[in-house]
Amino acid sequence: MSLPRYTVPTLSMADGAKVAAALQAQLHALNDLQLTLKHVHWNVVGPHFIAVHEMLDPQVDAVRLMVDAIAERIATLGVPPVGTPGALVKARTWNDYALGRATTIEHLGALDKVYEGVIAAHRKAADATESLDAVTNDLLIGQLHALEQFHWFVRAHLESSSGTLSTKGESTERGAAEAAAVGE
Ligand SMILES: [Fe+2]
Repeated sequence: MSLPRYTVPTLSMADGAKVAAALQAQLHALNDLQLTLKHVHWNVVGPHFIAVHEMLDPQVDAVRLMVDAIAERIATLGVPPVGTPGALVKARTWNDYALGRATTIEHLGALDKVYEGVIAAHRKAADATESLDAVTNDLLIGQLHALEQFHWFVRAHLESSSGTLSTKGESTERGAAEAAAVGE
């Protein structure tokens, strides 16, 4: 990890680099998320199409604003943000979204797992930056408010009246999609 030539006041160059690296991972994660949400927006079919299709666009818009805020925080820390698709694919630790054209409930089941992964990583990044840079921590926490609400929007479709999620115990997008379809 090369050190920046400047960073925000009171942070050491090493801490600036560390915080920027944590942010860079989440820049990739949210860039991937906004593309995946659009992909789902285009590929949902079946009952409740318009509800799910239209639910997703405000999430795309919000996530794109988060991407911009993260990238500009990285630049503010004195580090160049990386937003190219090739770098994203090279750096990511997850697979491409598993579903193409599929029913609304299958996509919602898979999206439950997508949000689970993104939120867990975002929370980890928030924890990692808490003692290093309160401003970055605040940025990530603020984004988690919205991401966790969007996750609930998805989960509310998968929830029974007793509060059980149809995707419970599933770890893959395909498994969650199938469980959601069965539980409908
Ligand atoms: Fe559209």
